[in-house]
Amino acid sequence: MATVLTIYGSPSVPSRTDGVLSHVDRRLIAAGHQVRPLVLRELPAAALLAGDTENADIAAAVDLVADADAVVIGTPVFKAAYSGLTKVFLDLLPQFAFQGKAVLPVVTGGSPAHVLAVDYALRPVLTSLGAAHVGQGWFVLGDHVRLFPDGGVLLDPAASGPLYEVTDAFLRHLDATSARRLTVAAASSSEEQIRVRAVQIGDPALRPLLADLVVEYGTRYGRPSANTELTEVPITDFEAPNGAFLVLTQGTETIAGGALRRKDDRTAEVKRVWTAHPHRRRGLARRVIAELERTAAELGYSQVYLTTGPRQPEARNLYLAAGYAPQFDLTADPESIGPLPFTKTLAAVPLQRVDGRAELAGARR
Ligand SMILES: Cc1cc2nc3c(=O)[nH]c(=O)nc-3n(C[C@H](O)[C@H](O)[C@H](O)COP(=O)(O)O)c2cc1C
Repeated sequence: MATVLTIYGSPSVPSRTDGVLSHVDRRLIAAGHQVRPLVLRELPAAALLAGDTENADIAAAVDLVADADAVVIGTPVFKAAYSGLTKVFLDLLPQFAFQGKAVLPVVTGGSPAHVLAVDYALRPVLTSLGAAHVGQGWFVLGDHVRLFPDGGVLLDPAASGPLYEVTDAFLRHLDATSARRLTVAAASSSEEQIRVRAVQIGDPALRPLLADLVVEYGTRYGRPSANTELTEVPITDFEAPNGAFLVLTQGTETIAGGALRRKDDRTAEVKRVWTAHPHRRRGLARRVIAELERTAAELGYSQVYLTTGPRQPEARNLYLAAGYAPQFDLTADPESIGPLPFTKTLAAVPLQRVDGRAELAGARR
């Protein structure tokens, strides 16, 4: 476990940079690291501008840098470079304050014209401060960050995909052992067959799914919750004869999954549909839905119900494409509705079960 200091370098409230950084922080925490936020705009302005390291708050901030194993630094692009707030803080640090530390730079900006500000402006300063490793940073376009008044943040896939990749690379740097494991798993699994299996709630194959959903829901809905145990519903809801938890695996890697639980005698509810980031845009979520529908039919259900959150546009599109009927006004602002319900009638229940799926079926009949 590493202690990571996240430096929040925007003077604005609310701040898109803060939104992006909060998502990165959630991922670091989910990976088991300790994250300490340092919000520069909350430091005493006069002491900051004067570079007064005798000031107690400034001294404490400098100590946070010294104590960290790694640093995430986020700033908006102002006038083609980093914010002045970020620079005044960096200026009062000792010459080699980042010595021995890995640093991940994250930038938000209004114009793609300044996408390289990470590399031509911020990176040289970090190197000059002695950073042992400056990770592949990322520039997020402000228009790709939607902030909600409750603290939720919705990142456009054009931003969340690459941000996921650079954060992953940073995490791998922080934990070389797990990096090797993940890289080998990804490389060896790419050619392997995709397998579908039903798992119990405590199965290790579910861990990546549950951990990533906590990050996603936490970011989008501004929730502090770490409900990795799905305690909002009894876990027996996800077991036969009521329901099931399915995972798609490739080699040793869990690449997608989803769950079913009983809503009423005729209706199964779909929950927790998820695809691992590196495997998105491969049609895996559609495959999960199809497998869940088949399983629901095997368990004796004749229809499927689900809700998706108002801040999950990709899920909404997925269910529409998979033939689900929206039970809400598609033209309304999803924020004004809340959870978005969908239903789908299943094809006739097959009389003969598919080999290997017998453990899911039977008890409801
Ligand atoms: C004073 C000022 C200067 C800016 N200069 C640039 C710029 O040169 N290039 C750019 O891409 N965006 C520029 N922007 C836009 C911000 O970088 C962008 O809105 C950013 O997402 C704001 O982040 P924040 O909400 O965390 O403060 C500027 C914004 C302000 C307020």
